Amino acid sequence: MSRTSASSRPAFAARGQNDGRSHNGGHRHEGGRRPPGDGSDSATSHTAARRSAATPRREQAESGQHLRTAHLYRGTPSNLARLARALHRGELVAVPTETVYGLAANALDARACRRIFQAKGRPASDPLIVHLLHAADLPRIAESNDAALRLARKFWPGPLTLVLPKKSIVPDVVSAGRPSVAVRVPSHPLFRRLLKASGLPLAAPSANAFGYVSPTTAEHVLAGLGDRIGHILDGGASSIGLESTIVDLRDPRKPRLLRPGAITRRELERALGRRVPSAAATKRPARGAQLAPGLLHRHYSPRTPVELHARINFSAIAKIDPRAREAWLFLARPKQLKAGANAHVSANIHWLDPRGHLHGAAHQLFGKLRALDAGGWKNIHVEPVPGAGLADAINDRLRRAAAR
Ligand code: TXA
Ligand code: MG
Repeated sequence: MSRTSASSRPAFAARGQNDGRSHNGGHRHEGGRRPPGDGSDSATSHTAARRSAATPRREQAESGQHLRTAHLYRGTPSNLARLARALHRGELVAVPTETVYGLAANALDARACRRIFQAKGRPASDPLIVHLLHAADLPRIAESNDAALRLARKFWPGPLTLVLPKKSIVPDVVSAGRPSVAVRVPSHPLFRRLLKASGLPLAAPSANAFGYVSPTTAEHVLAGLGDRIGHILDGGASSIGLESTIVDLRDPRKPRLLRPGAITRRELERALGRRVPSAAATKRPARGAQLAPGLLHRHYSPRTPVELHARINFSAIAKIDPRAREAWLFLARPKQLKAGANAHVSANIHWLDPRGHLHGAAHQLFGKLRALDAGGWKNIHVEPVPGAGLADAINDRLRRAAAR
């Protein structure tokens, strides 16, 4: 993976500040043809979107948007050019990233960004992350500092988001009215090609309906938002599978971890040469003023109740009636299932990674939660995964999924 140097690359183009009036969804079958390269996907697209069409119809009518069926686009040059034009028109494009799929809009276009909140059903108080092609573009968006530059040099492009004082070019809707903005330079090659083709900074939260499990494939996005958005760029499964690590660097001498992710606390502390405590551990949020908005309440939750146990006792599971529709999700394939043992409950037992490797588990977590959610289970039982680093990030998501 190439690292972005702070050399004098051109900052993103200033074009694209439009008022979004052209946004009417009517372009989707532009030229009467399907986008090249997406033929095999469009059948999936229609089925999935029809299935979930009922709920958002009223919301769409309220937001003045037409009912639409999302198209899946492969990353061909002509598709990327087409999606870049859509972004310039103020439309939303779901994009693949190495963490999770994002729902992107031109970060400098307030109306386009407002559509993100409408499509997700996201409260306006929950700010968005701005994605840049190069670290060299950072000064146009945010007030940088030594600590930020050090982390940017070490971890960008990659799964790290920095919270910094915001520059006035960033509309208030993006930062939810805060004087700070969250920024990251993603490493996903296809997303980078779209950032380059558009020449825009792209604001993007995870591409899920608010509060639901983040999407790690284009199909997840289609299932959740397929009838609320027009375009999904299909870049395959997100390699990491968990949202980025977020660090508050507004004060470079007091870095705070706002959200654990694949860049671990230890890596941040080594790079900065100082401790990086969790914001939640250092500050009790004042009433009505969350330090990490959107992170303190129930989040990433399947509809099926998730029970987080300190530890799951396998022998207790083996005694249950398998028809009770209780599902257990382990880190690794339980050894009690070896050689055909406990076959009567094997349908109830699931795991994140056959051998319990943390990277595999992170990669699978959201997909497994979604699959179990669709499986008609009464409860999903989980236990924390052992270890630190990536384990902290996985456990953070398990805790949130289980929060009521
Ligand atoms: O990996 C990721 O970060 C993905 C991909 C798409 O880049 N994005 C993502 O965005 O997870 P989202 O919106 O689901 O989470 C962003 C969180 C917000 O909920 C908020 O907690 C935090 O970032 N955030 C954004 N701006 C902030 C700010 N100015 N101050 C503090 N926290 C902020
Ligand atoms: Mg999210």
